[in-house]
Amino acid sequence: MQITLETKPYATLETDALVSCVFEDTDPIQGTLAEIDKSANGLLRKLSTSAEFTGKPLEMTLIHAPAGLKATRLLLVGAGKRDKFDVATLRKISGAALRYLKARSVKHLAFLVCENGLNEDSAQAIAEGAITANFETDKYKSDKKNDKSIDSVVIAGYSDKEKAAGEKGLTRGRIIAEAQNFARDLVNEPSNKLTPKILAEKAEAMAKESGLAADILDEKRIADLKMGALLSVAQGGPEPPRMIVVTYTPANPKPGAPVIGLVGKAVTFDTGGISIKPAEGMEKMKYDMAGGATMLGVMRALAALKPNVKVICVVPSTENMPGGKAQKPGDIQTAMSGKTIEVLNTDAEGRLILADGVHYAKQLGATHLVDAATLTGAIVVALANINVGVFGGSDQSWTDKLLASAKAVGEKMWQMPMDDEYREFIKGSFADIQNIGSGKGGGSITGAWFIREFAGDTPWIHLDIAGTAWNDDAKPWLAKGPTGVALRTLVNLVMSY
Ligand code: BES
Ligand code: ZN
Ligand code: ZN
Repeated sequence: MQITLETKPYATLETDALVSCVFEDTDPIQGTLAEIDKSANGLLRKLSTSAEFTGKPLEMTLIHAPAGLKATRLLLVGAGKRDKFDVATLRKISGAALRYLKARSVKHLAFLVCENGLNEDSAQAIAEGAITANFETDKYKSDKKNDKSIDSVVIAGYSDKEKAAGEKGLTRGRIIAEAQNFARDLVNEPSNKLTPKILAEKAEAMAKESGLAADILDEKRIADLKMGALLSVAQGGPEPPRMIVVTYTPANPKPGAPVIGLVGKAVTFDTGGISIKPAEGMEKMKYDMAGGATMLGVMRALAALKPNVKVICVVPSTENMPGGKAQKPGDIQTAMSGKTIEVLNTDAEGRLILADGVHYAKQLGATHLVDAATLTGAIVVALANINVGVFGGSDQSWTDKLLASAKAVGEKMWQMPMDDEYREFIKGSFADIQNIGSGKGGGSITGAWFIREFAGDTPWIHLDIAGTAWNDDAKPWLAKGPTGVALRTLVNLVMSY
């Protein structure tokens, strides 16, 4: 799918569909829409008066052969209240319009930017919305949705003066959305097509293509480095683990800037191990590597966006299997840091592999850490599929920075409490710590505290994306399945230096 910016008057654009927003105003026919209405002999006014469109969020009104336009269709998309309009809304509108038109076999569409500001950010939002909306999860289907493909999207409405800013936004949007789709594609892979070894190969190929450095630690190097927590999870199955390291080093590093460590959980399949999961819904556990996929996607975007800070991405990857050699409840493991862990539940494996991932990222020089993981079912109970759970260490300014990035890119995130009292829940009886809390609730918080033990004093944030990394139902702007959540926030965070 090609995306370009066009400064030609919208009425002259020869396209299958011209898309425009309609606000939920007392009079929705204003500005450009009033112009279109005039050349269409008052058709829009008539439809609006009969309440055929109202401007309600994502309401679609398709008009065929609109008079006065070269376009063969006009699609009016509800944009909600004008004062609530922002780039996040625009991104959804763009995505929903693309999916609506794609289902109707449209090949070429032009997006007429709403009057609320023709700038860099709006072009970025439209590009991101369109590219992420065009992603389908039908790779293994004989009958593919993408056979009904959109060939081109034109972003229209920009003047010659606004063109440079628009193109800058378009390029940035394309880079970020393609990285997001790269991550979603990995998450969509079933575990028989994506083992830790294959994930590492894909990460290495991505790094090579993007000009990033990659170091893949195989099971031997993992053992030499005494990554006992990662190894304990991997020992339950035949697939060897990998510790994937991808590094971005800026040409001109900003003096005094942090070295950011991005650590992502990549359990390519989580059966639960000996503490085995119920059969129902277990197939979804192929997405238990979404944290790792997100971090690799972030690196892919950063390689093109070229921030001024160094970023080290560490992705511990393994299966969690209940084989004959699997670890058993009560087993005591020694993490790379030297801490001993009593494994009371083998299904709480994400925190184990992150323990070694976080420790290794620090050893490689990370001064500020963020980890992302599909860590707990408890976060789904707390925040459903709406908000990412955010857990911070003692440096609240680092957490605030991430929350500001989330807000800027329109990703919903919610900070959870990390009082010292919760730490007591994972105090070990027979080892330094235990991998689950002792039956007092707060499951997502104890999971976060476990990882924090390994971050130590290094500023650290944990993102629990168990509820948000996978859409159980399709949205008008996004296919069912992997979302690529947190990628945009993390790219924004790194680019803010
Ligand atoms: N991968 C799961 C978390 C998960 C659960 C993700 C549901 C998505 C949906 C994780 O490894 C896990 O099994 N966590 C346990 C922890 C428990 C044993 C303390 C959980 O949440 O049940
Ligand atoms: Zn688990
Ligand atoms: Zn898991």
